[in-house]
Amino acid sequence: MLTDALFRRLSSAQHCVQIEFEGAPLKVPAGVSLAAALLTHDLGHTRESAVNGRPGAAYCLMGVCFECLVEVDGQANCQACLVQVAEGMRVRRQHGARELLIGGLEDE
Ligand code: FES
Repeated sequence: MLTDALFRRLSSAQHCVQIEFEGAPLKVPAGVSLAAALLTHDLGHTRESAVNGRPGAAYCLMGVCFECLVEVDGQANCQACLVQVAEGMRVRRQHGARELLIGGLEDE
């Protein structure tokens, strides 16, 4: 029978990296997903729904719900729970759907 906790508290002595969230520096634990790193701070929502603008944030932490979508280094629609946090990442909230760049269709 499994009796050990599946999760463990992050030690305050854990190695950290510095990222940028909405233009502000943020020190977060290294070696975890970006979603987990963002959850270590009280940031409120990290995205707004493309359908109704409802605020959201990481929920399932396993790539299923898409509530963790953020913009990372200018790339929209990144699932923060599936990306490992890295030094210098520039993260922004995702507002609605990303713009679609449909190359070449304007010429047809
Ligand atoms: S938190 Fe559900 S897909 Fe990332």
